[in-house]
Amino acid sequence: SCSCKIGPSILNADLSNLASEARRLMDCGADYLHLDVMDGHFVPNMTFGHPVVKSLRQHSDAFFDMHMMVAGPEQWIEGMRDAGANLFTFHVEATDDVKGCIRKVKEAGMQVGIGLKPKTPVDVVFPYVEDVDMVLVMTVEPGFGGQKFMADMMPKVQALRAKYKSLDIEVDGGVGPSTIDLAAEAGANMIVSGTAVVRSDNPREVIGQLRGKVDE
Ligand code: DX5
Ligand code: ZN
Repeated sequence: SCSCKIGPSILNADLSNLASEARRLMDCGADYLHLDVMDGHFVPNMTFGHPVVKSLRQHSDAFFDMHMMVAGPEQWIEGMRDAGANLFTFHVEATDDVKGCIRKVKEAGMQVGIGLKPKTPVDVVFPYVEDVDMVLVMTVEPGFGGQKFMADMMPKVQALRAKYKSLDIEVDGGVGPSTIDLAAEAGANMIVSGTAVVRSDNPREVIGQLRGKVDE
């Protein structure tokens, strides 16, 4: 058994109706919302920035997990804090000063996470783990929803879980009812699921299925 939290990614939801999508997903049993910020530099795609998050905050009390797929994440710390973000997760590949960025996020009053892309070895994050609230292990190349889960990332999750018993470890990319077992068994406890949930005819059922698999 595991006390996993399920956080739908709204990337492939109806972004023109973000407030109602957020409400729908939380009503369907989500524990938090995973909000994918892309800048067209760190990843070859764009989504939205802090002005949109600030607007969404007027309509939602959910915990906002900001997945910052941006180059130079430092520049968005204040904006995201002012917008009502709870957790600011940036990529270890995205800045030359990881320690400094961690410190600035904490000083801004948010929780802090660090993420790593599939090609980045897990030991790159070891020097920072003691200083963060969460480590995000990407299980697809960041940039797009709907890709195939990379099961060969599970050794990274296992290595982190072996060293850090109470660390929050998030997996993101290609997670659905058929892949969540692998992630949870490896030790992940924050589960992002995008298309499997938001593109389903019955998101409540899918969230229930995800939960059932990790809570048994
Ligand atoms: C990918 C994003 C993910 C993605 C998840 O760059 O970080 O959060 O939207 O969507 P699925 O579950 O469809 O892979
Ligand atoms: Zn994401």
